[in-house]
Amino acid sequence: MASQRFDVDQIVKQAKQLPSPPLVLARLMSLMNQPNRSRADLVRVIEVDAAFTAEILRVVNSAAYRRARRIRSVGDAIALLGEAELVRIVVRRASAVLSLPEVPGYGLEDFGLWRNSLRIALAADAIAWQTGALPSAVAYTAGLICDVGKLALGAYLAEAVDEVMDWQLANPGSQWVEAERAVLGLDHAELGALMVEDWGLPEEIVEAVRYHHRPRHAGDASMLAYHVHVADAVASMVGGVQGIDGLWYSLDPYWSELIDLGANQFDSLVDDVRGMSEAVEQQLKAG
Ligand SMILES: [Fe+2]
Repeated sequence: MASQRFDVDQIVKQAKQLPSPPLVLARLMSLMNQPNRSRADLVRVIEVDAAFTAEILRVVNSAAYRRARRIRSVGDAIALLGEAELVRIVVRRASAVLSLPEVPGYGLEDFGLWRNSLRIALAADAIAWQTGALPSAVAYTAGLICDVGKLALGAYLAEAVDEVMDWQLANPGSQWVEAERAVLGLDHAELGALMVEDWGLPEEIVEAVRYHHRPRHAGDASMLAYHVHVADAVASMVGGVQGIDGLWYSLDPYWSELIDLGANQFDSLVDDVRGMSEAVEQQLKAG
C-alpha cells in the first residue's frame, strides 16, 4: 500500500533546487549528437564558459595529466589528450554535483555515489565503443548521471528504508525502483529524469535516465537506456561502492538482443572498468 506521508511534488521541488551542472554540459551533449561537428565546434562550446575553461586548463595541467609542455588553450588540450578524453574530463567536472561524501538512505559512503556513477559511465562508454551504436560521450554522460535522483531521494528513503525493504521482500521478483515507487511515491530514476530535464540535457539522455532500470520502455531512447542498464550491471559486479539497492539489481533479459557482448567480454569489461575507475580515482586524488 502506497504511503501518503511523502509529498511527491515537494520531493520534486526540492530536487530541482539542488545545484545543477554548468550549462556547458547541455551544450556539449547537444553537440555530441551532431554527426558533422568539428573540433572547432567543440572548442567553442567549452570556451564560451570562461570560468569552466580555466578550471579545465587547471585540471589538464595538474600532476595527473601534465605533459611535456604547459597546455594554454582548450584546442591544445584536445590536440594532446584527444577529443574523447577531453570530453570525459569536461563531463566529469561538470557533474561534480554528484560528488558528495555520503548519500543517506542508500548507504552510500566515502563518495560512493560518485564512484559508482563513474564506473557506470566508464562501462557505458566502453560498451558504446564496442557497439558503435551511439556516441560514446553521450553514453558516458548518461551513465554518470543516471542515479542523480538518489541525491534528492536519499533523505526520504532514510525515513522509510525498512518499509522499502519490507515491500521488496513481500514482492519477490520485483525491482528496487518498484519498491521506491510503492513506498515513496516515485523512484530515483524518475526523479533523476526530472532533474536532468531541468538542466536542459537532450531528451534521449532524459529518457535513458528515466528508464535505466526498465530500458525496454524507453522508446526512441532504448538503445541508450540499454547501454546504461548493462553498464549499471557491470559497475555492480566491480563491487565495493554499491548502495543498498545494488543487492536487488536485476538485468533485463532482452539486453543481449541489442548489445552484443559475449560472456567473456562481459567479464573482461568488469575487469577493465575496475582498472579504469581506480586509475581515474588516483588521478583525481593526485590532481
Ligand atoms: Fe539507478
